[in-house]
Amino acid sequence: MTLDNIFRRRSVSPRRLIEPGPSLEQVRTMIDAACAAPDHRRLRPWRFILIRNDQRTLLANLFEAAACETHNTLSEEQTERAREKAFNGACLIAVVGAIRDNVPDTPPHEQWVSVGAAVQNILLTATSFGFGSMIVSGDKVKTRALQKGLGLSVIEQLLGFVAVGTVSKLLPVPERPIVENVLSVWPPEETGMLT
Ligand SMILES: Cc1cc2nc3c(=O)[nH]c(=O)nc-3n(C[C@H](O)[C@H](O)[C@H](O)COP(=O)(O)O)c2cc1C
Repeated sequence: MTLDNIFRRRSVSPRRLIEPGPSLEQVRTMIDAACAAPDHRRLRPWRFILIRNDQRTLLANLFEAAACETHNTLSEEQTERAREKAFNGACLIAVVGAIRDNVPDTPPHEQWVSVGAAVQNILLTATSFGFGSMIVSGDKVKTRALQKGLGLSVIEQLLGFVAVGTVSKLLPVPERPIVENVLSVWPPEETGMLT
């Protein structure tokens, strides 16, 4: 993994991530990279579900059920918008956090950091393969419809979906924070070190 991959990675909307997507072997490598995330006490607070491309209609049914759960009534247009998201992204991987709140020395926020690092490893590996990628969530990730439909246990939460695919339209690199705004030196008198 080169520094170049880190700096050129940018999120691309799943609807712009078209075929061809990663091979199964490339997906396995992305998940292998996820498993290299920092993980205090080796809790493995993450797991991943590869959505079968020949079953996207089933995912659309779940997205529609999730939208029904969050809005009491759905217009035809809302239903269509919820369903079409299931067909975006050449490859979709659900990211599941299994966060335990009673682990000595490893509070939930540390476990979520591990999940985030795992996601970043997936995004960077996808970048190194030449694919675009993005993690997306939305209200639907908290619904019972998706919890149940994807087979999550009671201690698991759906963080979102990583979409990976060939970029159909590249947008400009987003502005990143400048180092001076996020890096300080302690004690503060030493700040001059950075300039
Ligand atoms: C857990 C998580 C969920 C996200 N969900 C969404 C989402 O549903 N929709 C969205 O537009 N951006 C979402 N984002 C933000 C994008 O993935 C992306 O990070 C953001 O657009 C900044 O682009 P960049 O990654 O190129 O810096 C999410 C980010 C994270 C970490």
